[in-house]
Amino acid sequence: MPRLSYLLSLTPRETWRILRHRLPGLRGGPAWTVNELMSSPKHARGIRFAELLARQEAIAAQHMSWQPLDFEGRRVVEIGCGPLAGFGPLAIFRGASNFESAEPEWDPALLRDPAVVDTYLRVFHADLVALYGPRIDFATFRDALDARLSIHRCGFEAAAIEGAVDIVLSQSVLEHVFPLDDTVAKLAEIQAPQTRFLHLVDFGNHYPTASPYDGLYEKPPEAYIEQRGKAINLLRAPDIVETFAAHGIAATLIPTRKLPGQASEQIGDWWRERYDDDALFTQLALVVGPGDSVA
Ligand SMILES: C[S@@+](CC[C@H](N)C(=O)[O-])C[C@H]1O[C@@H](n2cnc3c(N)ncnc32)[C@H](O)[C@@H]1O
Repeated sequence: MPRLSYLLSLTPRETWRILRHRLPGLRGGPAWTVNELMSSPKHARGIRFAELLARQEAIAAQHMSWQPLDFEGRRVVEIGCGPLAGFGPLAIFRGASNFESAEPEWDPALLRDPAVVDTYLRVFHADLVALYGPRIDFATFRDALDARLSIHRCGFEAAAIEGAVDIVLSQSVLEHVFPLDDTVAKLAEIQAPQTRFLHLVDFGNHYPTASPYDGLYEKPPEAYIEQRGKAINLLRAPDIVETFAAHGIAATLIPTRKLPGQASEQIGDWWRERYDDDALFTQLALVVGPGDSVA
């Protein structure tokens, strides 16, 4: 269960969503409602996925010979796409042959709800047209989503996604999976050496604190998870790259935000003995491949 101080920092609607999701007796209802999604500044803006992709590809290009992803005719997989299909609409608009995802909170009724179609998909489509050109009209876009999106309501590790895929994406998911090893084992099953992948990982505490590391390094991970719940796995960037390597996937780590800790923060021995400052103070990073990424 999140800390009371965290819950009190949220809007009443978001607090209610979390409580509804976590409290015994209230569990079992929908993870999201249309109202919650459409009133969330984050979830209500589909074009944020294009902005995220543009930012991530620009950073990758600073570090390696990264060519922009080409979705045309490609089979695309996203881990944990979230309630409104994440990068799916963008990938389909840009010509992906298929978009598959596994999302434990997936509810197909949400993306078909008239309010979501009118206030989310229509605007998302208009923004995609402005950004990438008038590739397809709205009716064709909706038909393509129906025909080419396939989202499994389960953890990625258990999803019926098979065969070699061309592109794999995830946005703030790898820090939430337990255990990461199962997720990466599944990735190894569906990736070929030429599969291009881009995972954004957020190593912060996921609380709205002044420092993203507030409270993160005081205790060993098991004690932290015991106190705050199984929300983040507390693996650091080197652990992720090592797990990929252990499954035969060569991944490049690109920090996208390094932020020093603050003097007031305590860093326990458990953390100091295992990680250098680079690992401790990388808040956001991309895990990308293959090494010399071409279209
Ligand atoms: C921080 S949210 C990010 C959602 C989405 N990618 C976005 O950026 O809006 C983390 C997501 O990971 C999903 N998730 C958690 N464990 C997962 C697993 N084992 N496989 C796939 N998705 C998972 C959660 O349900 C949640 O939607």
